[in-house]
Amino acid sequence: MRAVQFAEYGGPEVLQPVEVPEPHAGPGQIRVAVRAAGVNPMDWKVRSGAMRRMMPLTLPAIPGIDVAGVVDEVGAGVTGVGVGDEVFGFATSDGYAEYAVLEHFAAKPPKMSWEEAAGLPVVAEAAVRSLDLLGVREGDIVLVNGVSGGVGQTAAQIAHARGATVLGTAGPANHDYLRALGVTPTSYGPGLVDRVRDISPDGVDEALDVAGKGALPDLIEITGTPDKVLTIADPDAQQHGVRMTSGAQGRSYQALDEAVRLFERGEFKLPVAQTFNLDQAAEAQEISQSGHVHGKLVLRVA
Ligand SMILES: NC(=O)c1ccc[n+]([C@@H]2O[C@H](COP(=O)([O-])OP(=O)(O)OC[C@H]3O[C@@H](n4cnc5c(N)ncnc54)[C@H](OP(=O)(O)O)[C@@H]3O)[C@@H](O)[C@H]2O)c1
Repeated sequence: MRAVQFAEYGGPEVLQPVEVPEPHAGPGQIRVAVRAAGVNPMDWKVRSGAMRRMMPLTLPAIPGIDVAGVVDEVGAGVTGVGVGDEVFGFATSDGYAEYAVLEHFAAKPPKMSWEEAAGLPVVAEAAVRSLDLLGVREGDIVLVNGVSGGVGQTAAQIAHARGATVLGTAGPANHDYLRALGVTPTSYGPGLVDRVRDISPDGVDEALDVAGKGALPDLIEITGTPDKVLTIADPDAQQHGVRMTSGAQGRSYQALDEAVRLFERGEFKLPVAQTFNLDQAAEAQEISQSGHVHGKLVLRVA
């Protein structure tokens, strides 16, 4: 099958189109013919070698975890899904490829495009896991630092649907879009504590940092305690006494169903910022790495 792999750590140029053997569904797994694969910052962090201590890889390796496609193999013990069904979920094999094996997936709603579905698994799971760890409830005021990215927009809409008031930081060009999602926006950077006090005189109950760009001291000051702050991306979390969560500690797979429910009720959308062919994966990762993507980058595989 066609895939994109890297044989050494490095820049986007190490990603190369290749032909590799197809994976097959084992017990408890399905295989899909991939229609679209999502690109996540994790993909280029792994490719760059920055994660090699935490996640040692055997090279060559194929990046990617988010896929959407048509089921073409159903492994022993799997029920409730059949060949020909349209699904999206987490690839346990490799995402940037024509076929992928999945254990955790959900049915793709007919009105959701392949590209939208392929952009959802990682961000929906991270958003739900983070909101649950923070204990965000109806009536809370939650601040999402980095709200215009994939995880940020998803967390904001899920928190909003759960009855929370959502504040968020983003570049000014994204503020009108965020207001339409029900988020009260402000800018990130120096002066954040005062700006948040201005837009939320009653304070902030919880703060979720999805940007990982050094805002934790401000978020602690805003909420009054590191216990009410959670980051998914700041490597300095421990030195600030802030919890950091990662999928390696256990994933909230039910997030896929929650995102689908909200999508079907018209309470959730995540725009596809740009689509690419599979062999343009290097370009897609380079854009992701630039750090200001507004929505999802998706590879069209078939
Ligand atoms: N631990 C986990 O489980 C987990 C899971 C998923 C993702 N992650 C990590 O979470 C991070 C976000 O992922 P993503 O998929 O949401 O990325 P993304 O879609 O690429 O989002 C990038 C966003 O970051 C914003 N941004 C850039 N600089 C910022 C700053 N200084 N302060 C606040 N926001 C800033 C940009 O907003 P503007 O364009 O408005 O400037 C942009 O919208 C990545 O580091 C990723 O690896 C962790």
